[in-house]
Amino acid sequence: MTESFQFYAPTRLIAGRGSVAQVPELLKPHAEEKTLVVTDRGLVQAGIVQLLTDVLDAAGCAYTLFDAVEPNPPIRVVEEGFQQYQSEGCGPIVIVGGGSSIDTAKAIGVLATNGGNIEAHFAPANVPNRIPYTIAVPTTYGTGSEVTPFAVITDNNHFKAAVRGPEIIPDVGILDSDFAVGLPMPVAAATGMDALTHAIESYVATTSNPLADASALHAIRLVADNLRQAASSDGNHEATENMLLASALAGVAFSQTLLGNVHAMSHPVSGHYGVPHGVANAILLTRVMDFNVIACPDRFAEIAAALGEDVTDLSEMEAATLAVEAVEALSNEVGIPPDLTTAGADPQGIPVLSEDAMKSVNISLNPRKTILQDVVSLYEQSF
Ligand SMILES: [Fe+2]
Repeated sequence: MTESFQFYAPTRLIAGRGSVAQVPELLKPHAEEKTLVVTDRGLVQAGIVQLLTDVLDAAGCAYTLFDAVEPNPPIRVVEEGFQQYQSEGCGPIVIVGGGSSIDTAKAIGVLATNGGNIEAHFAPANVPNRIPYTIAVPTTYGTGSEVTPFAVITDNNHFKAAVRGPEIIPDVGILDSDFAVGLPMPVAAATGMDALTHAIESYVATTSNPLADASALHAIRLVADNLRQAASSDGNHEATENMLLASALAGVAFSQTLLGNVHAMSHPVSGHYGVPHGVANAILLTRVMDFNVIACPDRFAEIAAALGEDVTDLSEMEAATLAVEAVEALSNEVGIPPDLTTAGADPQGIPVLSEDAMKSVNISLNPRKTILQDVVSLYEQSF
């Protein structure tokens, strides 16, 4: 018997190479309004945004480009984007970008329909009104933000705060491999390991449920089978599409369950030291898995099998331990730095990082009960 649970995944996902061509049709009910396109300058310079704007131009869709998104997006950028949204009289929002762009756009959308300043909507506050019609075209395969009810915004004290609620889930996600193929290996590795972290943390969370489990386990299989190929090649559309599916599936899973110690601990590392989210996660993931194994060895044994390990004739604990080793091997192969010091964070920050990590709701959902001293010790092992 399981306790009562919900599974809510309302985003319409359109997958397949070239599916960006469907955006003008999707925008038709909003044809009277200008679209705000949210992205970053790197994607403009790389010609990726043009894959969308060519389609919009050809269809005669009116839009204005906001390309000032920054990694670990700060409040200031949300405010700038909202100013442009208002001054241009925009309606729908289309995002071309990774988690930072999608999260920034969600926060702009919150201001558009809810007013106030974004801090007023940081969790635990809720978002009463639905954001404008929003289409996300992910250019990385990490956050799954195209399907999640979360936007992570860095406040003025380097704290990564969340805006959350069903009203901020995008309407449509376009999983088009043209937008994510041939990523630089460090970006592919970091974002792919973020998706894997979402799937693993969701699968072992105390809030897991059978429907989220199905999404999480298949996401783990897809990452294990495709991340190496997607990260190491320039034109592997099949592996890229599978990673986009993995990222969205993992996003669906953790939207139901939330996460665990890895995300509680990685957000402060990125907030204070700018370490890419997926890199911080990947480094912390093996340490936290090792810490968690005794709480649910059966679940970790399943994860080992999903990662492609041969678990026949192994005890549950032996199989569970293999899951940790398999993640470590994958991390190494795709070039994740071995520890947080190498990744650019400072071990002197451990007391502050630990205090910040303990503020996260994710700590209470971690399968093994975790107190401040555990977090300090996990950080010490990770630096
Ligand atoms: Fe994440």
